[in-house]
Amino acid sequence: MRIAIGADHGGYPVKAPMKELLESQGHTIVDLGAYSLDPADDYPDFAKAVAEYVASGQADKGIVLCGSGVGAAVASNKVRGVRASVCHDTYSAHQGVEHDDMNVLCMGARIIGEELAREIVSSFASAKFSGEERHKRRLGKLLDMEASF
Ligand code: RB5
Repeated sequence: MRIAIGADHGGYPVKAPMKELLESQGHTIVDLGAYSLDPADDYPDFAKAVAEYVASGQADKGIVLCGSGVGAAVASNKVRGVRASVCHDTYSAHQGVEHDDMNVLCMGARIIGEELAREIVSSFASAKFSGEERHKRRLGKLLDMEASF
């Protein structure tokens, strides 16, 4: 799977370990920054880069890391076609894909430890949208909402 990843300074320390983990699982990772720790950088820049990469079809899924995960999710969801959420547990990370077709995972590096982050990222990366009728119907309603903006 092609996965785009990005992080501001709050998420930066966890980005490299997540890249390494996903690569070891056979995924192709595109790193959209930050490429160094800059305490003055802004999470919307990295969320936008990852979200647009996913929305354009250049990646199958995206991961955005910031301090809390909140800013990353708020910003990612501004991009049409993106369904992003903060997940700090493994159930949400796979169920969000299976039921809601979540395509961008957001996490807060100040909230979770690296080991839990590994498990969450693995759950997200391996999950697939179930395609069940009720989930397709709900997804259709989301797409209708998006189309009406
Ligand atoms: C950056 O200091 C911090 O505000 C940001 O990473 C994130 O937590 C925002 O939601």
